[in-house]
Amino acid sequence: MVFPIVRPRRLRQSAVLRSMVRETRLSPEQLIYPLFVVEGDQVKKPISSMPGQFQLSVDHLKKEAQSLKDLGIPAVILFGIPSQKDEQGTVAWKKNNIINRAIQELKEHAPDLYVITDECFCEYTSHGHCGILKNGDVDNDATLANLAKQAVNHAQAGADMVAPSGMMDGMVDSIRAGLDEEGFQNVPIMSYAVKYASAFYGPFREAAECAPGEGDRSTYQMDPANAREALREADLDVSEGADILMVKPALAYLDIIQGLKDEFDVPIAAYHVSGEYAMIKAAAQNGWLDEEKAMMESLTSIRRAGADLIITYYAKEAAKIMRR
Ligand code: PBG
Repeated sequence: MVFPIVRPRRLRQSAVLRSMVRETRLSPEQLIYPLFVVEGDQVKKPISSMPGQFQLSVDHLKKEAQSLKDLGIPAVILFGIPSQKDEQGTVAWKKNNIINRAIQELKEHAPDLYVITDECFCEYTSHGHCGILKNGDVDNDATLANLAKQAVNHAQAGADMVAPSGMMDGMVDSIRAGLDEEGFQNVPIMSYAVKYASAFYGPFREAAECAPGEGDRSTYQMDPANAREALREADLDVSEGADILMVKPALAYLDIIQGLKDEFDVPIAAYHVSGEYAMIKAAAQNGWLDEEKAMMESLTSIRRAGADLIITYYAKEAAKIMRR
């Protein structure tokens, strides 16, 4: 059957009908909001490269949690920015560090808010790399033991889920073993399984104060040109016990999200990263595009590609629109 009997435009004639036949839906419960927590009191410091985002001190978290709850956003991913850093990032497994205090504050005042923590060392090391440095490169195996200690530390403070982001080989295995040994069998791991060495993390490095002093992350993060390797990374993480696989960044890697969705039966998350947020913000501030539409279109396309969950700085703004 062909035209004039078949007319795809028939199903586009009204907003009601378009909504009825819509293939992809976005809702607040699929969103995870990143929070940057700093030391100090009453700190709410704007992140200049990410308008609308802030570094917050622990005392601000209660209010933040309330606003997320009001918007129907179920989860946060926490990034801690400690005031002391050293070569190894030892503060990452200290009991009363910034991230632990943030977790405790949230669990006390907003027990229903689901708290995910980022497992990595770039915010904790003086050199800004994601693990222990040896001869100018991150020493994979030496970093694994520290990752397990960091994850256990977060779980002990009350974290609901841990998300290793350092792209170390064997990181999921090491964290799973560490958690299980301490009785945290039920704390899931969302692995940044497929994380590319991307220019789109630029603004995050200001937000988390974690730009590498020397060199870049291309000996551990993936080459943006590689797609088959993504399946290999994902496969390894699933066999090590990853409960959720994440792809990062999102928009420039929709094919990778779709590839993982087709291949694996665990939930897929995508990180709509700082640079993706900053691009829309900057263009909107110049009046070059409609921010609301560009944001919703971006998030919808990430869902359409196959992401079950989206980590995004736009979580609150998007949820507001969905509630209208
Ligand atoms: C590493 C980490 C990074 C991001 C999340 N976790 C930065 C990096 O790998 O350089 C980037 C997130 C973003 O750009 O929004 N701990």
